[in-house]
Amino acid sequence: MKLNRIWAIFFSPTDTTKKVVMHMAVSVSRLAICPVLQYDFTLPEGRQSFPHTEQGDLVIFGVPTYAGRIPNVLLRYLDTIKGSGAMAVPLVTFGNRNFDNSLIELRDILEKAGFATVAAAAVACEHSFSYSLGAGRPDGEDLAQITNFAQKLYSGICRIEKPEHRISVPGIPGTYGGYYKPQDRYGKFIDIRKVIPHVSESCTGCGLCASICPMGSIDSGDIRHMTGICIKCGACFKKCPASARYFDDEGYLYHKRELEELYKRRAPNSFFL
Ligand SMILES: Cc1cc2nc3c(=O)[nH]c(=O)nc-3n(C[C@H](O)[C@H](O)[C@H](O)COP(=O)(O)O)c2cc1C
Repeated sequence: MKLNRIWAIFFSPTDTTKKVVMHMAVSVSRLAICPVLQYDFTLPEGRQSFPHTEQGDLVIFGVPTYAGRIPNVLLRYLDTIKGSGAMAVPLVTFGNRNFDNSLIELRDILEKAGFATVAAAAVACEHSFSYSLGAGRPDGEDLAQITNFAQKLYSGICRIEKPEHRISVPGIPGTYGGYYKPQDRYGKFIDIRKVIPHVSESCTGCGLCASICPMGSIDSGDIRHMTGICIKCGACFKKCPASARYFDDEGYLYHKRELEELYKRRAPNSFFL
């Protein structure tokens, strides 16, 4: 099968998914000698439409794992997208704990949308809540593995005559077994859904946080005022040039510390072809 175009399509509040997807897309395009087109649906504007893909296209489609699943705020949008027979690589990132059922869920979403999923990948990255959990990932070692996978992917695609392949990935099918639920030291569910980021004295009022919030929930006229939900994606606090954004909720901080304590090992990446 000849490739005409490679698409890099992603949701990526703290840019790790973007980095992984772009690296994979560029690595395949170098071999296929065809252009890479980028579509970013991180911001609300990006979720107003979807690019037209077609047979002969290969789409590297990346989202982060949230609570072991696809971020649920994206589901309504993902239900509207159309693949029109393009080949796709469902790709999830995760913050050094586990991707659980997010990859199987993304594979199913893309198949339902009319993509032919020919390969898949789950790549460990720095966790959105933390600077130490999976620190600096994807790093050189991860990128080298992605380059290697891209080579195998491209040779595999060259051997495909008609893209009908539905890649098999591990995970619980169907209802996907619910969302990962953090617990406190007494085994009680830590509910961080209503937790919001605060703003410290070091805020310079630049307004960047309002412009990069994937939910469009920070009031650009008064960045201390939230107009909608917070998904704890980390964009505002990791990208703030004055490090003025912070969380002080005890449950959130307990969960973050526990993850940092329990998941010090280097989580492996998983590639499926
Ligand atoms: C609300 C939320 C839940 C998350 N849940 C998980 C999880 O279940 N397992 C895991 O390993 N990482 C989890 N992560 C970490 C992200 O998957 C990871 O940091 C990812 O690389 C972020 O992608 P981005 O940089 O493109 O935003 C979670 C992050 C957030 C914000």
